[in-house]
Amino acid sequence: MKKVLVVFASLILAVGLASAASIVGSKHDLRASGGGTPTGQGLTEVCVVCHTPHQASAANGQYPLWNHQGTATASFGVYSSPTMNATPAEIGGAAMGSQSVSLLCMSCHDGTVSVLAMYNNPPSGAPTVNPISGRIDASGRIISTANIGTNLTDDHPVNFTYNTALANADGGLVDPATSPTIQGWLVAGTVQCASCHDVHDPQYTPFLRADNTGSALCLTCHIK
Ligand code: HEC
Ligand code: HEC
Ligand code: HEC
Ligand code: HEC
Repeated sequence: MKKVLVVFASLILAVGLASAASIVGSKHDLRASGGGTPTGQGLTEVCVVCHTPHQASAANGQYPLWNHQGTATASFGVYSSPTMNATPAEIGGAAMGSQSVSLLCMSCHDGTVSVLAMYNNPPSGAPTVNPISGRIDASGRIISTANIGTNLTDDHPVNFTYNTALANADGGLVDPATSPTIQGWLVAGTVQCASCHDVHDPQYTPFLRADNTGSALCLTCHIK
């Protein structure tokens, strides 16, 4: 029985290891030698554009050791519809430190801040921008289709609680209490950009939490 358990455990481990891919070499590896977007000359580290090991200023004393300059966009608006049961909260205007995880994404993806703008530059210094036609402009801002813009009223809603009560009210949602997968995707019980995307894992393009063939990602939460 013990042996069987050990074999089973190592199988799970092997599957677990095989299923994760690394941010290194992905579009979120912003080094000149990195993935699809080599924006930074003089950047030798991968994590530093988003995280700092030490909190050099009050502004970045925040989860998850955040190091990327925040966006000044005060209002993105929220998606609303006659059939929505949830009430998403505005992500803009929050002081860094109390912001939603989604606002962290928008510090690059609303297209207003250089992707290389950090609170705390690495020892190698501030990286220079290497513009890429149609993708990154001379100021380091995203200009490709990955620029979500400063309007979130036409995007899948984020920044709201998704619980049993919401599933009951909607009637077409999986009850998250019955799904460890959904629980793992929610951030403190809320739907955020990071509920559908894993910023560190390019395995399912574009950084999706799961393969969306047959809309499997959507059907994890929606009963349709
Ligand atoms: C492009 C921005 C970006 C880069 C680069 C990045 N991260 Fe993150 N990281 C995030 C965001 C956004 C979150 C919060 C959302 C989440 O947890 O998915 C996060 C969360 C985390 C967390 C806490 C949550 C968890 O998943 O355990 C850890 C630890 C982490 N990152 C480590 C790293 C390390 C180590 C690297 C470099 C190898 C790295 N990150 C590179 C954006 C980034
Ligand atoms: C430090 C800046 C930065 C942060 C923070 C950041 N991204 Fe990105 N992201 C980029 C860049 C640069 C690209 C590549 C854009 C291009 O080349 O067109 C990208 C690309 C993407 C893509 C498209 C990938 C593909 O294969 O086409 C997705 C999806 C994405 N990011 C999601 C997120 C999410 C979700 C978050 C927050 C959890 C986040 N990003 C945070 C800089 C960032
Ligand atoms: C409900 C799931 C879900 C949520 C929430 C979500 N996304 Fe996405 N996102 C997707 C899917 C799926 C795609 C792939 C697009 C497609 O299939 O047409 C995508 C595509 C993208 C892309 C690539 C667009 C392109 O054309 O290159 C970026 C960048 C991105 N998302 C960022 C974000 C950011 C930032 C947030 C939060 C404001 C967010 N996403 C919230 C599911 C989601
Ligand atoms: C992590 C869970 C989750 C995932 C994954 C997810 N959604 Fe959602 N989605 C929700 C929740 C929760 C709501 C809010 C429903 C409500 O309040 O009635 C919502 C709202 C919506 C709405 C608006 C409904 C309305 O009444 O106006 C649409 C449309 C939608 N999602 C489509 C999608 C599609 C398409 C995908 C895949 C690309 C997807 N969702 C992936 C959880 C998710």
